[in-house]
Amino acid sequence: MGVRHQNCRSSSSGCFSIRYSTILTLAILSTSFYLFISPVRHVPEPFSWAAGQARFSGDLRDTKFPWNSLCFGQNYEKLKLAVFSKTWPIDAAPGGMERHAATLYKALAARGHEIHVFTVPSDRKPHLDIHEGNLHVYFAANDHGSVNCSLAFEIFNTINANGAFDYVHTESVSLPHWRAKMVPNVAVTWHGIWYEIMHSKLFEELLLNSQEVSPRPVGELQEAMPRLVDEIRFFPSYTQHICISNSAGEVLVNIYQLPQRNVHVILNGVDETKFVHDPEAGIRFKKTHGVPENVSLVMGVAGRLVRDKGHPLLYKAFSTITKTYAGVYLLVAGSGPWGKRYSELGPNVKVLGALNPKELSEFYNAIDVFINPTLRPQGLDLTLIEAMHCGKPVLTPNYPSIVGTVVVNKSFGYTFSPNVESFVEALKSVIRDGPKVLQSKGMACREYALSMFTATKMASAYERFFLCMKNTRFCQYPLPTDC
Ligand SMILES: *[C@@H]1O[C@H](CO)[C@@H](O)[C@H](O)[C@H]1NC(C)=O
Ligand SMILES: *[C@@H]1O[C@H](CO)[C@@H](O)[C@H](O)[C@H]1NC(C)=O
Ligand SMILES: *[C@@H]1O[C@H](CO)[C@@H](O)[C@H](O)[C@H]1NC(C)=O
Repeated sequence: MGVRHQNCRSSSSGCFSIRYSTILTLAILSTSFYLFISPVRHVPEPFSWAAGQARFSGDLRDTKFPWNSLCFGQNYEKLKLAVFSKTWPIDAAPGGMERHAATLYKALAARGHEIHVFTVPSDRKPHLDIHEGNLHVYFAANDHGSVNCSLAFEIFNTINANGAFDYVHTESVSLPHWRAKMVPNVAVTWHGIWYEIMHSKLFEELLLNSQEVSPRPVGELQEAMPRLVDEIRFFPSYTQHICISNSAGEVLVNIYQLPQRNVHVILNGVDETKFVHDPEAGIRFKKTHGVPENVSLVMGVAGRLVRDKGHPLLYKAFSTITKTYAGVYLLVAGSGPWGKRYSELGPNVKVLGALNPKELSEFYNAIDVFINPTLRPQGLDLTLIEAMHCGKPVLTPNYPSIVGTVVVNKSFGYTFSPNVESFVEALKSVIRDGPKVLQSKGMACREYALSMFTATKMASAYERFFLCMKNTRFCQYPLPTDC
């Protein structure tokens, strides 16, 4: 997910001396509080975000749903923005956070805003700065190939002196918190927070370490706690916070205790012109890759084939299910250590290797249901959203970021607890429903994705956000120019 937080020693001193066991117990207790006790409705009620809102009018800073669900019209006010991003994609390199930054800032520059990005090339090789219309990308690397903050600020100050920036945006901690403290007009987008990482590490511990011959030390889970405490302490160094899921927004308000008015939800979008519903491309793809014509259902999984992405779970669940249902077929897009194990599963599985974005769209169109078994859903997994754009329902673990924002109800797919039994049950529901029901769920997915997860909607939500930060007049919704 590209989450690389600064480690402890760079900020608050002595944070490693915290008693892990005490904190861990507290965290588990507070997690169970939210899971079991909160439905009783103690006061004060935990703050929560909803998936969408049809009719809203008022101040956008008070919204309790993602800004993407609103429809913003065109404005003529132009912005001058500074952006800090850990890397900038060179060529078609994949990668969640940098792809997000490039999509967003190209779109904002195309809308006439002046964008200055301080970053380093993703391939860590020397490159010339980029100046394309309103988009300016400055590569300011240190010896290790990461952003040299002093150098970036030298350039920043020169540009700022020629006309002050309206706002500064950082993708995660690309602008470190001790620097952010000195920049009042700064908004940060969190692509994954330690509270979520702790949650998934807990599940990884429960699931994977019980089955391994040489389990990883439980320390990995314990290390998450001081990181979380550190994060809660330094997050207030940033003024405005943007989350990419409703659940992360809730955690920032309820657990990190940030003022609700400074926490906003803007969901990531994917290029809706690249991921489209195209059944014929799907049929061609199946022919090309030799999917037998007599299979009853094609499931698909995509991404890096590594343990953390939940492949041990899918491997077990799928080999269980094919014992009963011989007509089920699995297409695996991607590469990694688990590829070999999948190909040993027999004639019901085909491993395709890594696919380029065009092939990936055809792949989604070839399947009946998209499976994402991830055990680390920090941030929003773009593959789920891409599959939905192609009109496919999804099957995925029930992490809060997913059920609160993506698979918000049963019409979009199936969720399961991250264990083999629950996964097998969910696969059985998919098989019982069959291709017809899956198809209609897929159409509901496509409609929802188009209303929430497009690159256009994301850019227009960010544009309005920065306009609102520059001039509170734009915080009102709807404006006469809005749709
Ligand atoms: C970062 O940039 C500053 C200013 O240009 C320079 O003096 C310093 O040596 C650089 N640091 C590294 C680690 O490259
Ligand atoms: C599909 O056909 C192949 C050979 O034509 C056969 O081996 C296989 O068992 C069939 N599968 C199903 C689910 O009928
Ligand atoms: C599912 O959620 C979508 C989007 O919020 C909504 O339009 C739809 O009515 C919901 N369906 C059900 C069955 O609740």
